[in-house]
Amino acid sequence: MDEIRFDDRIVIITGAGRGIGRGYALLFGARGAKVVVNDLGAFVDGTEHDESVAGEVVKQIEADGGTAVSDSRDISDFAQAEALIQETYDRWGRVDAVIANAGILQDRAFVNMSEAEWDAVTAVHLKGAFNVARAAWPLFRSQSYGRIVVTSSASGLYGNFGQANYGAMKLGVVGLMHVLSLEGAKYNITCNAIAPNALSRMTEALLAGELHDRVGPEHIAPAVAYMASDRCTQTGLIIQAGAGQFCRTVLATNPAVKITDGHVPATLEQVAERWHAITDVSGIADAGNLSPQVLDPANLLG
Ligand SMILES: NC(=O)c1ccc[n+]([C@@H]2O[C@H](COP(=O)([O-])OP(=O)(O)OC[C@H]3O[C@@H](n4cnc5c(N)ncnc54)[C@H](O)[C@@H]3O)[C@@H](O)[C@H]2O)c1
Repeated sequence: MDEIRFDDRIVIITGAGRGIGRGYALLFGARGAKVVVNDLGAFVDGTEHDESVAGEVVKQIEADGGTAVSDSRDISDFAQAEALIQETYDRWGRVDAVIANAGILQDRAFVNMSEAEWDAVTAVHLKGAFNVARAAWPLFRSQSYGRIVVTSSASGLYGNFGQANYGAMKLGVVGLMHVLSLEGAKYNITCNAIAPNALSRMTEALLAGELHDRVGPEHIAPAVAYMASDRCTQTGLIIQAGAGQFCRTVLATNPAVKITDGHVPATLEQVAERWHAITDVSGIADAGNLSPQVLDPANLLG
């Protein structure tokens, strides 16, 4: 296959100062994109700001011969997200792709989770994805071209202890993605989701040991860059990636169990009696995949 390039493409990546987003920025930069490295330089919990974090990635891209600018706006704020998109447009005359990657964690057992912890995680993950997508949307429509990638997580797709706030938002962005993929279709705007599995400061406690040297953040970038390229016209995908492995996650539905013809509602007892059939997913072709695949040690080490 010929090399996939992003020459003359303008790509904005939120939270690109560290971890997985940094990996995206370096790949887009190496493939000719003009990259906006957005990152406010927060701690994992979203507190504190360090503007130098995004600047360091820009220096790296430039040292490798690429073109990038840094931005330290807070994408959880709609006005700042709008300003990020507008400033990029004013600088380069278009925006081709927005990667909503910025994220924070405020984990807590649900019994102790505070409203503030819920709101903070909502603001960055779900509102942040809305903010940058919404700000770019009119531009994408006027160009008849746009690529959006939102960031989900196994935590949202399958659940994870202590992450009620985070998991809810990570499935929330999938809902956003499904709607944007429908609304964008006739304007050549795609929207897809990545669920990464990679070593970063967010996951260093989880991904230590045997997997440590196989799960670098650079493993996610090829899937995201492909979905953000003009080669990929598919939309509405959930792609999991990590450690050299890639797979697609789908929401699966089993064949409907017909209890009545719709003229009368089923009784509670009729539903209870048929509950086994209603919840039986054994007939779904890929029911075996209703669990995390990427980083399953059986896959990775087998
Ligand atoms: N690491 C994994 O295995 C994993 C798994 C599932 C999902 N994710 C998701 O991938 C994304 C990247 O995570 P990572 O592991 O690279 O974490 P990371 O902490 O290394 O990077 C996240 C970056 O986002 C920035 N950020 C936070 N709030 C921001 C805001 N309001 N505005 C701008 N920038 C902001 C931070 O400063 C940080 O540099 C996140 O959305 C995360 O939830 C990661």
